Amino acid sequence: MSSSSNLWVLLGLGIAGIIIMSQRLKRVVKKDLGAFLERFELLPPPQPAPPKAPHPLTGLSFAVADVFDIEGYITGFGNPDWGRTHEAAKQTSPVVASLIEGGATCIGKTIIDDMAFSLFGENKHFGTPTNPKAPDRVPGGCSSGSAVAVAGGMVDFALGLDTIGGVRVPGAFCGILGFKPSHGAISNNGFLHVSQSLDTIGLFAKDPTVLRRTSHILLKLPYAGQRHPKHVMIADDAFLLMRISTTRIIEAVTKSVEVLFGKQVLRHVNVGEYLKTKMSSLEELQIGDMNGDSKIPSLASLASAMRLLHRFEFRNNYENWVESVAPAIETCISANLRTSAIDNDVLINKCQTARYEARMALDSLLKENGILVLPTVLGPPPKLHSKEVSSDEYQICLSQLSAIASMSGCCQVTLPLGVHEKLPMSVSLIAKHGSDRFLLDIVQAMYSTLQDQTGIDLMSTTSNISSTKEEAAESAKEKGNIAFKEKQWQKAINLYSEAIKLNGQNATYYSNRAAAYLEVGGYLQAEADCSTAINLDKKNVKAFLRRGTAREVLGYYKEAMEDFRYALVLEPTNKTANVAANRLKKFIP
Ligand SMILES: *[C@@H]1O[C@H](CO)[C@@H](O)[C@H](O)[C@H]1NC(C)=O
Ligand SMILES: *[C@@H]1O[C@H](CO)[C@@H](O)[C@H](O)[C@H]1NC(C)=O
Ligand SMILES: *[C@@H]1O[C@H](CO)[C@@H](O)[C@H](O)[C@H]1NC(C)=O
Repeated sequence: MSSSSNLWVLLGLGIAGIIIMSQRLKRVVKKDLGAFLERFELLPPPQPAPPKAPHPLTGLSFAVADVFDIEGYITGFGNPDWGRTHEAAKQTSPVVASLIEGGATCIGKTIIDDMAFSLFGENKHFGTPTNPKAPDRVPGGCSSGSAVAVAGGMVDFALGLDTIGGVRVPGAFCGILGFKPSHGAISNNGFLHVSQSLDTIGLFAKDPTVLRRTSHILLKLPYAGQRHPKHVMIADDAFLLMRISTTRIIEAVTKSVEVLFGKQVLRHVNVGEYLKTKMSSLEELQIGDMNGDSKIPSLASLASAMRLLHRFEFRNNYENWVESVAPAIETCISANLRTSAIDNDVLINKCQTARYEARMALDSLLKENGILVLPTVLGPPPKLHSKEVSSDEYQICLSQLSAIASMSGCCQVTLPLGVHEKLPMSVSLIAKHGSDRFLLDIVQAMYSTLQDQTGIDLMSTTSNISSTKEEAAESAKEKGNIAFKEKQWQKAINLYSEAIKLNGQNATYYSNRAAAYLEVGGYLQAEADCSTAINLDKKNVKAFLRRGTAREVLGYYKEAMEDFRYALVLEPTNKTANVAANRLKKFIP
């Protein structure tokens, strides 16, 4: 080779290095998945001397959404101009204070949506926290950072704000428990309100016993025995709003209820029909374009009443500040301040009537011992920056599900149901206003049977329900996938290695381990794993793509090119392979 062609090879290598470096940098996820705005430590008081019992929340850590006041810190409200124009809080919110008094340690403030307004968790000022269960999907809002901090295992529980779904939606999207208590059941002081008629403080947790323990502190509940539900009502019509098949969800709930409480408690109900007969205000609330897609007109009306109240009260709270500061805010917020419908006093009064009627209607449907089962969200979390996130139609449809508890003031918990096609699934339970304890007991009772119904308990690291080596391998792989999604590369490698030890004949395990090796720069191991995977399965596109990537970094351009070309033979439309092949062309003489 002449010296000039050597120079070209060196140059080529340098450029390839730069391209690969910059690609790797782009994928770097922020520290703590970008959930935190600020970290600090607020420690609980010392334990009382025995024989007094230790603090009930001893050993638990938590985070708070940036709407709660913490003495000495500015409450930021998801908007930099708000932070800039406000002073540090003089007092800690009573809710935060009682959790610390109860023995828990607060470790920081988490990101919320701009002025806690949206439902998707994309904050253009502070960034979007990464959904650990689905990194290319939205985490859900407004309490995005709190949900991510819990789902990512950084805290045991977290506080959020739920006005039109701000805890329930991110809970569902991040695959964790999210609790919206009854309206007014928990102290209403010490946080920034969005809409007083709808706002409730909410809680996230992964573990139902943690959710129950912490909620009991906030609700100030004395000890009492547990009650079984008399009726568990599946809201058939609400499930029709979902955009995916609901069979699996309804089956899981049905089986779990049968096992725990017996067949006789199960009912089916059309909640839309029911509300229509009980709420005369709904008919007058058919507000043209705000109804959107109305498969269930009465739920659509209820949802538009909620949206109207939300906007009306938000405007009353913040119009003056917005006018004087002219902050950089999301366009959906500024548009909201200009909505003319909220100037119609008669309409706003009807919305308040609807709230009252909804409370009465659900009280008479559920009574003391009833549970309503409905979807939390329309399906898996939407992709980041997707059309769904900005479309009114999607938000209006989603509101029809969240409006039931928001408008009636009932309590609701969203429960995770494992993953479907690698995306988190969920279902919600609602109990009558004031029946928070009953609801939390049912959630705790149903949680583990629901997990059993939906297959392997993906969240638990201690459960072992595998009966054969193949099943155990599969379970290790699933846990590896979770670790991978949580960017815990070494943990993922260990889990995939365990899967390979249990079953050395499955290409997926090698190919997945290769993906984790690529993340930590183990290119030689990645290449070896891909070769094994390809030997086991000649059509494994991912293994060819990953081996190509490893070989490219190692400088074997020709071999890398062969891998990408072969991937294209197997999957001619694959963009990743196409882009890689085009990129490599330049480096191959
Ligand atoms: C789970 O069960 C499998 C099969 O019985 C066994 O090989 C494996 O060691 C168990 N794992 C744990 C963590 O107990
Ligand atoms: C390998 O595992 C995947 C999922 O992890 C499964 O779908 C596939 O059937 C397994 N293949 C073999 C040959 O066991
Ligand atoms: C290319 O193929 C891989 C493996 O099947 C797949 O995971 C990836 O999403 C595909 N990429 C595109 C852009 O089609």
